[in-house]
Amino acid sequence: MKPKVLITRKIFDDALALAKQHFEVEENPSDAPLSPQVLIEKLQGKGGAIVRLTDRMDDEVLSHCPGLKIICNIAVGYDNIDVEACISRRVMVTNTPGVLDDTTADFTWALLLSTARRVVEADQYLRFSKWKRWELMDFLGYDVHHKVLGICGLGRIGQCVARRAKGFSMQIIYTDIIRATPLVEKELEVRFVDKKTLLSESDFVTLHVPLNAQTTHYISMDEFCLMKHTAILINASRGPVVDEKALVWALKGGKIAGAGLDVYEKEPEVEYDLIKMKNVVLAPHIASASRETRLRMATMAVENLMAGLTGRRPPNLVNEEVLEQ
Ligand code: DGY
Repeated sequence: MKPKVLITRKIFDDALALAKQHFEVEENPSDAPLSPQVLIEKLQGKGGAIVRLTDRMDDEVLSHCPGLKIICNIAVGYDNIDVEACISRRVMVTNTPGVLDDTTADFTWALLLSTARRVVEADQYLRFSKWKRWELMDFLGYDVHHKVLGICGLGRIGQCVARRAKGFSMQIIYTDIIRATPLVEKELEVRFVDKKTLLSESDFVTLHVPLNAQTTHYISMDEFCLMKHTAILINASRGPVVDEKALVWALKGGKIAGAGLDVYEKEPEVEYDLIKMKNVVLAPHIASASRETRLRMATMAVENLMAGLTGRRPPNLVNEEVLEQ
């Protein structure tokens, strides 16, 4: 008999077909996020689950699902899953690292360029027939080339962002809890600085840290006060890394010049003030959303599930402790 699994939301047909070869799959035909109660109901009798960021897998949910052996997130970040609770309940957790690095870095650049050069605002201007003639001083933005890029978090995605910055002849500085090796610093031509220096020297600050207790509100009022008045903040990591109310305050008060955001503190809600601001480019958490990458992410989740439920070590296990117990 095939093991029973739950796939909480719609996934690509190819990934679903692969899952169905190995498992008895319960899908969610509506594709709407499941409430905790429904999630618990559907997880009864299931050995594994493929979930996504909208599914909160906390201790309460886990406590009602004793048969659950593995949770496979379709995302590299897994702050929607209580990993400590999974460790104590011996539930494996997997994510989808690596495949989305370049795609997310591309989108980080899309946000950076469109914010600096006012692409979205100009597009709206043209569409609403406001463009009458070429003007010398309309839509003046900020140059990107030869400026200082500050990368917070030089992990896989941060490194991909740095590689692209070289093409714009930028000076690249970074900060992280662990300094990169001299080899990496040399290859990327990046300089390690502390957080304060990074904030005060950068023309563009881009965030690539995971969300955890240390990085919640990593950028708040104090940090905005250190930044240049002409600086632009880019966030394609996790919403709570930036104190959204402080961001509104900083933008309104001219502490910084603009922001390009893909993520928000209370998704899908966005501070209303941000929506009204022309110097802010907003995207609905789509940095990894290329056809190729999202398909690969979904397939990886299925592959992790297959390994986990057949006694093999899932390739992207994030809580090794479960195997050591
Ligand atoms: C992730 O993978 O963590 C992204 O935020 C969703 O693609």
